[in-house]
Amino acid sequence: MSEGQRSGRSRPSGPLLYDRISGLYDRLFDPFEGPLRDEALRWLAARPGERIVELGVGTGRALHPLAERVGEPGSVVGIDLARGMLARAARRVRRSPAGARALLVRAGVRPIPLAPASFDAAFLSFTLELFGPPQAERLLSEIRRVLRPEGRLALAALWQSPRPGWMERAYIHGHRLAPHLLDCSPIDLDGLLRQAGYDLRRAETRSLMGIPVRLALAAPRPRF
Ligand SMILES: C[S@@+](CC[C@H](N)C(=O)[O-])C[C@H]1O[C@@H](n2cnc3c(N)ncnc32)[C@H](O)[C@@H]1O
Repeated sequence: MSEGQRSGRSRPSGPLLYDRISGLYDRLFDPFEGPLRDEALRWLAARPGERIVELGVGTGRALHPLAERVGEPGSVVGIDLARGMLARAARRVRRSPAGARALLVRAGVRPIPLAPASFDAAFLSFTLELFGPPQAERLLSEIRRVLRPEGRLALAALWQSPRPGWMERAYIHGHRLAPHLLDCSPIDLDGLLRQAGYDLRRAETRSLMGIPVRLALAAPRPRF
């Protein structure tokens, strides 16, 4: 049974939607999302030898440069449920020697199928806001579980700004009318990170065609 059938919806949504649009995804979204994703990647500042996990790896636009940055002793893992997106990610990383350091896993992210405290850093771009706030907080807690205590997390996500402008309001309206198409729902990223047990190291707002996008760098709050 397909995901759409299981949920009682006739239109594809979630990873099934991404499967369908995987061939168009980069052309449709990369001109807008790419520069913001790249900035969040710079904030993560991957270092040689690190182990990094990306959740909702999509077509591998971030995973590929991450695999190059971690170099020979490092490794990267990209997780996604959409076969079409993963196939594109696989093609992208295999084009370069860095591909040998990249593992792609077809899996859901709740729970993350990885061992506790096994990664130096985690990365998410335009993925956390696909989940409603309670699930997003749970996903952030899951990421905290797989990060080493001194690890870090960088994200780019649609931002629920304190004073939404007209583009943000229009987007939210569109999301309510057609959540299967406009599937991201702006989130209070800073608040979610704090609730999930992170300290914010840096957070700034950018604009994606008038819709606020929050970039954040966070670290697990020490447990005493
Ligand atoms: C908006 S795309 C972003 C892709 C990529 N991070 C980027 O910046 O281009 C969201 C990705 O999350 C994946 N995804 C959605 N729900 C998921 C879930 N529950 N488990 C794993 N992946 C999921 C989708 O298949 C899709 O590839």
